[in-house]
Amino acid sequence: MEKEIHDQPHAVADTLLGRTDEAGRLVLDEVRIPEERLRAVERITVVACGTASYAGMVAKYAIEHWTRIPVEVALAHEFRYCDPIVDENTLVVSISQSGETMDTLMAVKHATDLGAMTLSVCNTHGSTIPRESDAVLYTHAGPEIAVASTKAFLAQITACYVLGLYLAQLRGETYADDAKAVMRELQEIPAKIEDLLGRMDRVQEMAEFMADTRTVLFLGRNVGYPVAMEGALKLKELAYIHAEGFAAGELKHGPIALIEAGQPVFVIVPSPDTPHELHKKVVSNIQEIRARGARTLVIAHDGDDDVEPFASEVIRIPACAPLLAPLLAVVPLQVFALHLATAKGLDVDQPRNLAKSVTVE
Ligand code: AGP
Repeated sequence: MEKEIHDQPHAVADTLLGRTDEAGRLVLDEVRIPEERLRAVERITVVACGTASYAGMVAKYAIEHWTRIPVEVALAHEFRYCDPIVDENTLVVSISQSGETMDTLMAVKHATDLGAMTLSVCNTHGSTIPRESDAVLYTHAGPEIAVASTKAFLAQITACYVLGLYLAQLRGETYADDAKAVMRELQEIPAKIEDLLGRMDRVQEMAEFMADTRTVLFLGRNVGYPVAMEGALKLKELAYIHAEGFAAGELKHGPIALIEAGQPVFVIVPSPDTPHELHKKVVSNIQEIRARGARTLVIAHDGDDDVEPFASEVIRIPACAPLLAPLLAVVPLQVFALHLATAKGLDVDQPRNLAKSVTVE
């Protein structure tokens, strides 16, 4: 798993490779054939499980913003049984590292039966889900062996960004320039992950120090929300610790009752460039929980000084465009779970009760 975490700059770079022409326009050879159908897409439903579904949640924020196409994210095992609203103008995007997850495969088949166009974001060539789909966008994370997903998650998010930008470009010139600009920012992300991986000593120390912790909470907003969910899942899977991720705005609607002295809470702070005062609101969330004694473990961009007064610890990530931040913000959470589990003497590559691909429903 440690190797896979360190493979992440390559996973992102390789997933971006060859996606643009000389003029900076996106080219997706794999999805060219159903281009006409893609132009007619009125809605998108993402189907996936676990970590892949969190990549889908990130995709929702990004694709809706760039294309104005409504995107829904459904857990694949729920999708089939909820009488989904899907027709020939719906694009059903499945996300799966293995391409063999039975729940996701069944959702894809159901979508096909309902007349939808299906596109698979997948890391495994020749696996079943891409074969059952109309189009496939391969992630190039390389083989992921550790049961807990890390580099595949980053590659899935990257592929979803590429898909969103491609759809934006297909839908008209107004978005095309934006798409080019975001692609340029995306190209800078691998070097930023590399930089970030070089700063993880303090995160390791924190994890070792917290080996006896019984429960950890994770807060995030907007694209930081799925990052919070993923941070919690990593800790459950690897360290067998109760962990919960939730949208920071929900705090006052219930979860704040959980806050007591010493409770560790990771907070994923959006970029100060995020619109609608989102950044300010998350900073005030940190202030609220700190006032109630929480140990605030704050993930914030370089240069964001507003968080300092209320943070027990600040974990810095390189500055980047707000929608791209999950590719950086999740890294310290992966590293934290890895080292906490290691400090507990657990096998991080083969956690108990889990299989790499879940081929039964
Ligand atoms: C990730 O750490 C998990 N082991 C799990 O949630 C996984 O992401 C999920 O089972 C989906 O797998 P897939 O991407 O191979 O379809």
